[in-house]
Amino acid sequence: MRDETEVDLDATQFRAMSDETTRILLELFRDIRSRRVFPGKKPSDIQRLLAEPLPLKPQSPLKILKEVEKKVIPNSTFTGSPRYFGFVMGSGTTISVFGDAIAAALNQNPGVWKAGPAATELERIVIRWFAEMIGYDVRAGGILTSGGTLANVAAIATALNDRAGYDFLNEGLQSEKRKGRFLLYMSDHEGHSSVVKAAQLLGLGRDSVRRVKSHEDFTMDVENLEELIEKDTAEGNSPFCVVAQVGSINVGVVDPLKEISSVCARHHLWFHADGACGAFGRIIPRKAKLFEGLELADSITLDPHKWLYVSYDCGCVLVRDPVKLRNAFTLHAPYLKGILPTEYTGLDFHEHGPQMSRGFRALKAWMSIKQIGVERYSRLLERDVALVEYLDSLVKKSDEFEVLSKPVLQMYCFRFAPKSVKDEAELNKLNQRIVDEVQLTGKAFLMTTSIRGKTALRLSVTNHRTTKKDIELTFELLRQTGRMLSRSSSGKRR
Ligand SMILES: Cc1ncc(COP(=O)(O)O)c(C=O)c1O
Repeated sequence: MRDETEVDLDATQFRAMSDETTRILLELFRDIRSRRVFPGKKPSDIQRLLAEPLPLKPQSPLKILKEVEKKVIPNSTFTGSPRYFGFVMGSGTTISVFGDAIAAALNQNPGVWKAGPAATELERIVIRWFAEMIGYDVRAGGILTSGGTLANVAAIATALNDRAGYDFLNEGLQSEKRKGRFLLYMSDHEGHSSVVKAAQLLGLGRDSVRRVKSHEDFTMDVENLEELIEKDTAEGNSPFCVVAQVGSINVGVVDPLKEISSVCARHHLWFHADGACGAFGRIIPRKAKLFEGLELADSITLDPHKWLYVSYDCGCVLVRDPVKLRNAFTLHAPYLKGILPTEYTGLDFHEHGPQMSRGFRALKAWMSIKQIGVERYSRLLERDVALVEYLDSLVKKSDEFEVLSKPVLQMYCFRFAPKSVKDEAELNKLNQRIVDEVQLTGKAFLMTTSIRGKTALRLSVTNHRTTKKDIELTFELLRQTGRMLSRSSSGKRR
């Protein structure tokens, strides 16, 4: 280092670091189809590889980069691989790489306008574009979040503040004016765990989330919803919010949004639509009908880092009435704003969400939407759905597999169920082992879930790189692994 106080890379170092990083990333993307999807190492192996004492002396930037190349990259899970179908994760646009690099260079903090003027205004634009894409009121308020979980937290905090019926902001849950328990509702099978976490974080307790029965097709039974609300109200409680699924976590269904909205209107409840997984599916023309009623929601959770393929992290909450979002989070402190507003006073996002300091997430989303355009996005999402339908056709043609959910959007559940294995517990074990084995091959990555007690192979095709060939390869790999494991366990049984 030139001087004790100089930590910035000089122009030569900066150029060398950029060139090396570009080489590494070009190789990464060039080989993304053939790389191991999952490193297949144990946590302890990676801990050992990375363990080192606290650095006390400066190290060379290029040497640090070498370590990243040798130790970090090969021990990463390639969520951008065309055969990554795990959790519900987007594949990452390459333009996001530049968005994040520039955001880091600018080091903005769009929690307050003056610490991120263009960043704040870009965030506003991106939020309006999201609303327009999904047919929501473009005058809606909103904020980018770390993901769907924090978007759900922000939406439910807004709902609680708006529907509590007293000065919730100041008196909180401890108010003597509170009547019974605050309760919220979501479907029993497909309701997402992040809503339970939100209820816990807001001090409502996990038990405040009531589980509404679902129909055979996994959508919410709205009659049961109304029965529960009436019963809970009669018992002196305060139902305040219903959370509808818009592309659910296991099977991708959309709850009956119009009917839920009517129930909410009748009972003066907040209608929140959790569209983290699937709301962007609204841009697929042949699926538009599924989303009727989404425009009626009081708030919507979106996850651009899922089905817009923006790189992690980038979530979003939209609230139809921006004043309600602001009411739930606004808090004045003399060090955050001047005493008198001036023409340079802008929107301070810390007044619209839980975070004060926040990163410049909007840039990579803005760049991705501009590069790809909504028409092309629509075709890409359509292709993901078509790939799930293709997989369903392969499953239906085979007598070794069984369909566990009908394709709706980009999620799909099925299982390996050869005639030779009859016992349900054994089938559950077999399917879990298939996924564990396949993950370790590094050739494809998927997860299991439980569908009405049956362990399912679950694929999320939230990936702009996946092709029919990737689906065929993965299906064949699952079949061969299933055959091998069921042969070896029947051998053991004999
Ligand atoms: C329906 C739904 N809601 C919320 C979340 C949580 O989103 P995140 O993981 O971005 O916090 C998910 C994640 O998969 C989801 O599918």
